Amino acid sequence: MQKLIVNGGRRLHGELKLQGSKNSALPIMAACVLSSEECSLRNCPRLTDVYSAARILNCLGCRCSFSGNTVTADPSGINATEIPESLMRQMRSSIMFMGAIIGRMGECTVSVPGGCELGPRPIDMHLAALRKMGVSVSDSGGRIVCRAERLHGAKISLPFPSVGATENVILCGVCAEGETVLNNAAREPEICDLCSFLRACGAQIKGDGGSRIVISGRAELHGCEYTVMPDRIAGATYLSMTAAAGGEIILTDACVPEMEPFLSVLEQTGCSIYTKDDSIYLRSGPRLRCVRERIRTMPHPGFPTDAQAVLMAALCKADGTSVFEENIFDCRYRHTDALNKMGADIQVLGKVAVVRGVRSLHGAEVEATDLRGGAAMVAAALSAEGETVITELHHIDRGYEKIEEAAASLGGDIRRV
Ligand code: EPZ
Repeated sequence: MQKLIVNGGRRLHGELKLQGSKNSALPIMAACVLSSEECSLRNCPRLTDVYSAARILNCLGCRCSFSGNTVTADPSGINATEIPESLMRQMRSSIMFMGAIIGRMGECTVSVPGGCELGPRPIDMHLAALRKMGVSVSDSGGRIVCRAERLHGAKISLPFPSVGATENVILCGVCAEGETVLNNAAREPEICDLCSFLRACGAQIKGDGGSRIVISGRAELHGCEYTVMPDRIAGATYLSMTAAAGGEIILTDACVPEMEPFLSVLEQTGCSIYTKDDSIYLRSGPRLRCVRERIRTMPHPGFPTDAQAVLMAALCKADGTSVFEENIFDCRYRHTDALNKMGADIQVLGKVAVVRGVRSLHGAEVEATDLRGGAAMVAAALSAEGETVITELHHIDRGYEKIEEAAASLGGDIRRV
């Protein structure tokens, strides 16, 4: 079993190049299914979830290979329509292949996807939207069989701006006959990245980044070379880590406008933050201040749920009390037990977590509970006195490219054994 051993208390200092976005790379890899020619994706992070997506592509008959951070996918030979349950279970994003396979082949068989346990994560909105587009869906015992005699455009309004449902509608709509109008679409930057990739392949999509997306279907998609956007959540993680441990960092290759909802909250802790082009500089003050306004996670451009845990880790030692309100997932405070074990004072009541700043944290043995919760434990461990041992690293490895090397390059005493 692999562990991270962290000896906290060292200030962090240095420059870090931000990895490519996991939550962009995964739907874009699914979108490759729709192309008739080879696609080359630069800046793909080397993560277990990305390897899982590559395995799904290979099993569909799309040859997929890695060279550094470039993934090459050749979908010309796609001949299968079913994703085995073992691959579906490896990550949530496996469900994105559903829209893409139906778009290309008119049918697909999948099962309920895996992913971080953050409370119930149904796919009812995905399925309802596909049904509106002419897909018949039968779901028996978790095996989901979809068929479309004639895939057609539709007017769809999502009850909530779900990221995954928006991506599935876009993927399906690109190949459907006629126009698809999607209202209350998710506005996350990764949606825009997916649409930019599809446009580079010849798709006609308008309005992404806003709540109303219009897709003109039946495009013949060709291959392209594309660069995946930077990972705004990994960016939030390394900034939070530096704020927690104290020190200064220059984050390069960052997506500054997309990170504003996070940066505007982090700035309230008293950290000095300057941005220029695609770089972010952060210097922490002697002690962080609490955030006075309630930190409410919301769909983009609200404060991102994926950055809640890592910011909480930084605020554990802040001066004063900060209050979080988690509005996206029912069960996204599972990291708080570990932070409390390290000496934090966090009380959770339903969707609210109250973080009373303490003077210091201490090392402990903790288990990563999920991807971002695990990253929060790394950030807390770097700011704690003494040794922390973190296990269940497979959660962290799903979203961070060598987190220990990144933190060590900033001067953190952290190693994997
Ligand atoms: C994406 O998940 C991200 N994953 C998540 O990142 C992120 O936390 C989330 O969007 C919100 O920003 C990827 O992009 C791979 P949703 P997704 O559909 O698409 C409910 C990380 O740490 N819902 O917007 O699964 C759902 O239960 C991960 O990198 C339904 O009820 O999120 C949740 O409460 C974790 N029915 C809310 O909507 C549905 O059919 C938001 O989910 C779909 C969703």
